[in-house]
Amino acid sequence: MSDTISVKPFGRLRNGEETLLYTLSGENGAWASVTDYGASLVGFSGPSDGIPGTDIALSCESATALERDTSYIGAMIGRVAGRIGGAGYEMDGKRFNLTANTPPHHLHGGATGLGKRKWTVLQPPLPYPSICFTIISEDGDEGYPGEVRSSITYTLLPPTRLVVEIRSISSAPTPYNPTLHAYFNLDGHAAGSILHHELQIFSECCTLTDADLIPTGEIVPVDGLSCDFRHLVQIGVKMSAIPTGFDQNFLIDGADGSLRKAAIVQSAASGRRLTVWTDRPCIHLYTGHFLAVTDGKDGAAYDACAGFALETQGFPDAVNHSNFPVDILRPGDVFFSRTIFELDQDIQA
Ligand code: BGC
Repeated sequence: MSDTISVKPFGRLRNGEETLLYTLSGENGAWASVTDYGASLVGFSGPSDGIPGTDIALSCESATALERDTSYIGAMIGRVAGRIGGAGYEMDGKRFNLTANTPPHHLHGGATGLGKRKWTVLQPPLPYPSICFTIISEDGDEGYPGEVRSSITYTLLPPTRLVVEIRSISSAPTPYNPTLHAYFNLDGHAAGSILHHELQIFSECCTLTDADLIPTGEIVPVDGLSCDFRHLVQIGVKMSAIPTGFDQNFLIDGADGSLRKAAIVQSAASGRRLTVWTDRPCIHLYTGHFLAVTDGKDGAAYDACAGFALETQGFPDAVNHSNFPVDILRPGDVFFSRTIFELDQDIQA
């Protein structure tokens, strides 16, 4: 096998546009596939001795199905990941009202956020092992000010590291806090529950939310809370006290803008381990309690806890909490973030 990028049709959107699926394949057999619809991650696999490896990323068979999805499967989220309370904020004495797509709040960039649009593949294309998608979010998009130009670059490095880099500029000050909303199941995307996976998050503190999952502004130690993942522990064990699973933001220890190890997930059943590295200050754990996908890849259906998402991001709802470092992208500044998903196989768990 040699290093390649292949491309194939990935289905038609409601507006008639055709989409494409790009697969980056490494010499060792590792691969990652991504689509221009939502700049979404569609598949991810380590090497597997010449036979196709196990795909650990949840997704759908086509962009047609992804367009129907309401779980943000594999999608690039923007402009702002998570919820903005009351679907609005004040900046420089002015109120900005955003789309209240989870009334009365704003979630994951609005009704048609960046993960619900077709992106453009960069031309001329980057050489292997990278692929870059770009998009323009117009002034006023979902209520946000300024025209924002974003790109997301996926790079597959050996042995199995998927590097996700986001770069953006804006013509006016705007909140900007994107993430990649990938769901994984280390035993295979259609393997069922992730409750036996063990998780460690390198975090001493988390942010609290109210009943609507809107951050209250409080930052508290995880010590004594059910979301204490400072040591490797089975997700299901921790979840016994949380009927609707985890939907929780953590502050990454020592975050200083450099690349840090944020989380490790491993499964003794398959001997796989995923390590998440990021330069962002926070990581959000979502254990997929509300997953309800009937048209997953290979005919799979994904229901509650079929996958976990570890979304690297800035502080949630930062525009509404003066004690949170705010993510305002200003004209002249370049937003840049890097997150790496590193897959190991045959670990002795
Ligand atoms: C959010 C959940 C939301 C889910 C949607 C997660 O990132 O934290 O609250 O239900 O995305 O799929």
